[in-house]
Amino acid sequence: MAAAAKHPLPTDFRALDDCHQQIGQHLERLGALMDHLDREGVDDHARTEADTIERFFSTTSQRHHLDEETKVFPQLLGSTDVDLVATVRMLQQDHGWIEEDWLAIAPQLRAIAAGYNWYDPAELRHALQVFLELCREHIALEESLIYPEAKAQAEKLQRRRAALPPLVFKAGAPSSS
Ligand SMILES: [Fe+2]
Ligand SMILES: [Fe+2]
Repeated sequence: MAAAAKHPLPTDFRALDDCHQQIGQHLERLGALMDHLDREGVDDHARTEADTIERFFSTTSQRHHLDEETKVFPQLLGSTDVDLVATVRMLQQDHGWIEEDWLAIAPQLRAIAAGYNWYDPAELRHALQVFLELCREHIALEESLIYPEAKAQAEKLQRRRAALPPLVFKAGAPSSS
């Protein structure tokens, strides 16, 4: 345990967890925005919210998917657990669908942010519901299965590395060049 404390987990997992919190908050805001639009239409509050939410899902959220694709999924895809590998492949597929859905939603939010109200409320509500559900299910699966598995693997590697003696070169050793 002392060795693990000397070599804390890479901050990536903390950043990924924080990002899930932020995604959750923005999903809540997205649901609230839809309700607000139904009640009040496009007013100043709707414009500001649409702008903030659109920026978040078009930037931070997409970077989060990229982080998972490069820092979390690859180590799990090498597992001998076929169910685990199948789940990771499904989550990769989810990323594609989430981004595809977002490409359809984002222009409508940008229009609302600019003060236009040409969107179709029923279509937008349906699209947002599909997006909210997919994102929430996706995050729940990552947090209940994939992140714990990835963290356990990282801790195992870290313990192994901490147990290995450090390489020491003696000064004055003959050079190969
Ligand atoms: Fe993900
Ligand atoms: Fe995630």
